[in-house]
Amino acid sequence: MKGLFITLEGGEGAGKSTQSRRLKSALESAGRDVVLTREPGGTPEAEKIRDLLVQRDGGNWTPMAECLLFFAARQMHVETLIKPAIAAGKIVICDRFTDSTIAYQGYGHGFDISTIQQVAKLSLGDFKPDLTFILDLPVADGLARSLKQKDMAGGKENTEDRFKKLKIDFHEKLRQGFLTIAKHEPSRCVVVDAGGSADDVYNVIWTRIQNAL
Ligand code: TMP
Repeated sequence: MKGLFITLEGGEGAGKSTQSRRLKSALESAGRDVVLTREPGGTPEAEKIRDLLVQRDGGNWTPMAECLLFFAARQMHVETLIKPAIAAGKIVICDRFTDSTIAYQGYGHGFDISTIQQVAKLSLGDFKPDLTFILDLPVADGLARSLKQKDMAGGKENTEDRFKKLKIDFHEKLRQGFLTIAKHEPSRCVVVDAGGSADDVYNVIWTRIQNAL
């Protein structure tokens, strides 16, 4: 069977993790071998880099150093986990990939997008996902959802205060960034309205994957 590389992308609260897990079990029920992984991370080395990048005390990186760290993690992940799994006929589902660097570091934080693309080319060559689902949702809805999840996990801060801290305009740039990426690569990227129920979102993704298989 032919391997396939599928990525899920989107901003806060879009439901990527829920959809990736659901997809994995549906594909396994259909008899496929599936690897579910995430970025930054996915291998022991890349998970160490994840700690440097996403933890509060992980370091205060310059934009270029941060970009290189994302791609150092990604290069390890692609060479040691993703490519071998695809070559073995497996389906790899990855929660975030290069589009997240373009959206977060590029569109969101303002780091030069053509520089990110050059680093991508240098570290990954022409390797790209076969199919990317961009889970799209109005910023306020996504942030409200992710705050609700934190509340359920026992968060103490007042919701409104935390909401303000999340810098709505940054998330708006992020959302527009993902939509622009999708516009530039319509054959790879599928924008999915993530505002509906988890079942509706899943059905859209599942139909598109069945066409790809
Ligand atoms: P997660 O919350 O989806 O696990 O992602 C971890 C954080 O890392 C999230 O805030 C998005 C950010 N990130 C980037 O800024 N650039 C990237 O290239 C990736 C993969 C993630």
